[in-house]
Amino acid sequence: KKTVRDIDVKGKRVFCRVDFNVPMQNGVVTDDTRIRAALPTIQYLMEQGAKVILASHLGRPKGKVVEEMRLNAVAERLSELLGKRVVKTDEAYGDAVKAAIAEMNEGDVLLLENVRFYPGEEKNDPELAKAFAELADVYVNDAFGAAHRAHASTEGIAHHLPAVAGFLMEKEIEVLGKALSNPDRPFTAIIGGAKVKDKIGVIENLLDKVDNLIIGGGLAYTFVKALGYEIGKSLLEEDKIELAKSFMEKAKEKGVNFYMPVDAVVADDFSNDANKKVVNIDEIPSDWEGLDIGPKTRELYRDVILKSKLVIWNGPMGVFEMDAFAEGTKAVAQALADAKDTYTVIGGGDSAAAVEKFRLADKMDHISTGGGASLEFMEGKQLPGVVALNDK
Ligand code: 3PG
Repeated sequence: KKTVRDIDVKGKRVFCRVDFNVPMQNGVVTDDTRIRAALPTIQYLMEQGAKVILASHLGRPKGKVVEEMRLNAVAERLSELLGKRVVKTDEAYGDAVKAAIAEMNEGDVLLLENVRFYPGEEKNDPELAKAFAELADVYVNDAFGAAHRAHASTEGIAHHLPAVAGFLMEKEIEVLGKALSNPDRPFTAIIGGAKVKDKIGVIENLLDKVDNLIIGGGLAYTFVKALGYEIGKSLLEEDKIELAKSFMEKAKEKGVNFYMPVDAVVADDFSNDANKKVVNIDEIPSDWEGLDIGPKTRELYRDVILKSKLVIWNGPMGVFEMDAFAEGTKAVAQALADAKDTYTVIGGGDSAAAVEKFRLADKMDHISTGGGASLEFMEGKQLPGVVALNDK
C-alpha cells in the first residue's frame, strides 16, 4: 500500500480521515490518545505544505446532529497539541466548508464536523463520498480504528481521489500484519473479555498461528463448563459449549498449548464490595460467580508470557473496572511490562484501557488504536478502509 510518503502534497488540499472518536465528559476530551496517535501524519502533512482537512466521527449520532457529539473540544485539544490554531467548521461538506478551505494557507489545519451527523456516512452513500471528495485533491486514511467500517469517509471517498495510508494506519497494519503472517516464536495470544461469541473469529484464526493460546475473562467459564466443571453463577453461553470443546480439540490437533484458568476469584455478588474468595477452578460454589483469574493462574500466565517472543493481548482477565477484580488483568499487564525480550501488542479496546489504567502503557511495544478494527484484523478479515486505498 502507498503511504503519504509516496505522494506530493505540497499546496494540495488533503482530506485526511482520522479516528478522533475519543471519550468526552462535560465537553472536555478525557483521553487524547487517539488524537496524539494521529499527530505524526498531521505534522508531516503540515511540514510538506499541504492544506490539511481532517475528518472524523465521534460516537454514534445515527445520522443526526447531536450537540454533545460536535468536534469542537477535539479541535481545541488538537490545537494545543499542534501549537497552532485549528479551524473547526460546523458542517462536514458544502459551500460553507468550501469557503473555509479556500481561506487556507499551506500548512494550515481544518477539522470538519462529525461526519456521522449525516445519514449518508454510515450508508456509504456515493453522493456524500463525492461531496467529501470535492473538498480535496488527495485522500489520506489514518483512521485505523474505523478501517473496519465501509463508510463514505473511510471507503467511498477513496474511489474518487488518489488514496494513501497515513503513518498510524501504516504502523498498525505492519505490526498486526507481521504478527499474523510471520511471527517471532514462541507466539502467544491472550484472549479475554466477557463473551465467547465476540471472540469466535479471533480464536479460530489464531489457532492456526500461535504456539500458546491463553484465555481468561468471562468467556473462560464457558470453557470451564465444557470441561465438565460446575461454574456456579459465572457467565455461561450455553450455546457455545460445543464450540468451546471444539476449540480445545483443535488446539490439541494443531499442537497449540491451550491455557485456561486453574483458579478463580469468586464473589457472591457482581459488585466491588461483594464477599470474595479464591477457589480452584473445579470448586466454584453454586451461588458464587467467577469475576477474575486467581493467583495460581496469574503465575502460570506470567510464566508463559515471559517465555514468549511475541504476545498479542485482547480482552481483560476479569472485571477490571472494579478494583476488587482487577488483579488478574493487572498481573497480565505487569507480566507484559516485565517481559523485556518479548514484543508486546495490545489489541485495542478494553485491554488498551487496562494498561492505561495500570499506568503501564509506555512499557508496551504497540498499543493498537483500534478496538473493533484490530479484532477484525486478527480474525483475518480484510478491512474495507484499507482495501479501498490506491483505488485510483
Ligand atoms: C472505535 O471506537 O472502535 C472506532 O472509532 C469505531 O467506532 P464505531 O464502533 O462506532 O464504528
